[in-house]
Amino acid sequence: MVSFALLSDSYSRKSVTVLGHLFQRNVVLGVSGGIAAYKSAELIRQLKTRGADVRVVMTRGAREFITPLTLQALSGHPVHADLLDPEAELGMGHIELARWADLLLVAPATADLLARLAQGRADDLLTTVALACPAPLMLAPAMNQQMWRNTATQDNLQRLQARGVHMVGPAAGEQACGDVGPGRMEDPAIIAAAAASLFESGELAGRRVVITAGPTREALDPVRYISNHSSGRMGYALARAAAEAGARTTLISGPVDLHTPEGVERVDVVSAEDMLEASLSRLTDCDIFIACAAVADYRPADVAGDKIKKNEERMTLELVRNPDIVAAVSAHPQRPFTVGFAAETRDLLSYARDKLERKGLDMIVANDVSAEGIGFNSQENAVTVLWDGAEEALPRSGKQQIARDIITRLARRYRETVT
Ligand code: PMT
Repeated sequence: MVSFALLSDSYSRKSVTVLGHLFQRNVVLGVSGGIAAYKSAELIRQLKTRGADVRVVMTRGAREFITPLTLQALSGHPVHADLLDPEAELGMGHIELARWADLLLVAPATADLLARLAQGRADDLLTTVALACPAPLMLAPAMNQQMWRNTATQDNLQRLQARGVHMVGPAAGEQACGDVGPGRMEDPAIIAAAAASLFESGELAGRRVVITAGPTREALDPVRYISNHSSGRMGYALARAAAEAGARTTLISGPVDLHTPEGVERVDVVSAEDMLEASLSRLTDCDIFIACAAVADYRPADVAGDKIKKNEERMTLELVRNPDIVAAVSAHPQRPFTVGFAAETRDLLSYARDKLERKGLDMIVANDVSAEGIGFNSQENAVTVLWDGAEEALPRSGKQQIARDIITRLARRYRETVT
């Protein structure tokens, strides 16, 4: 009897039902020519629901089963089909596409495609991208059950797995050809979950992380307040990255216009005093505290009960200092591993190091907020992470990437310090 593997061991239905994140992950979806190609439409939807940006590469065979137009409409990008198409290469060429990918996912992966990948061939666009792509490769095989059981296919599979290629499925059951057995492409929802699980590092598994984000608003009267330009993006990106790393994550958020990241608990606050209270009340259940919020340092000494009238030409406001939330957390008897941010317009690193020491922090993220396009209310950031005698610069990138990089450094330092 020919032995064969049902590859649901690593990504079983049970193990991938937990929702994972693909937020701002670039997925190149390869579609090869089998009847299951029609399911790639639903797979694109599943990947995008999880936040991925998806670009599709189709083999010639795939185009016989489903039109590029369908997959273009669903992915929102032109479909890549030919290796030697000068027009396509003028847009995003095959090498650029391979570099762009955070993941190359091929679904369905036919027996022929498995064979060509196992041999390292580069005889069409998809196999060429696979050879040129440094990102992880995940395959969702789909074929007739006898083709799947064939020793040649099983050999190819073993060669690919030995090279670190990830497999999801196939499922067993009734097939389009009428056979019953293993070889059905796995359910698109399960494939998307398996893809997301590749990015779940588990670096903070079991840890409880509390993150402050966004601005605070300090009321002057019932309709006016003092605040700042923080959008909350950096803090929300950190919450998403902490959840991806396996942490039970709570976001204490000032007023922002953002969706709560999946799997993150959100507590809405308005003023610095609200934020302090929410932060301190969570310290019994907190291993790591990250203060990313742009907390107003001062608040009006008095809040007018009625709207202030504009009677005078000049008006003087008396302000009082707000509590320093991150310093209070770090001085607390139930002190967690405490990380602050330093938003500076000059002498970035020396001010940041001063705050690290003065506020008793374990780590600080220095953020130059004077540079164009980074810092407050921008999509990108560039920071330097500092701790006890060391520092590491994280170059300009999207805030989600910066957040993931910060969480990796923080998790490493946390393990060194706490264990
Ligand atoms: O929200 P975005 O638009 O994405 O912008 C991100 C950001 C620029 C706001 C973020 O990256 C950032 O730099 N956050 C810190 C802003 C800040 O207030 O920095 P600071 O240097 O003034 O404060 C130092 C640290 O003390 C910070 O961790 C801050 O959260 C904390 N703090 C400050 C004052 C206060 N009363 N309580 C505090 O906890």
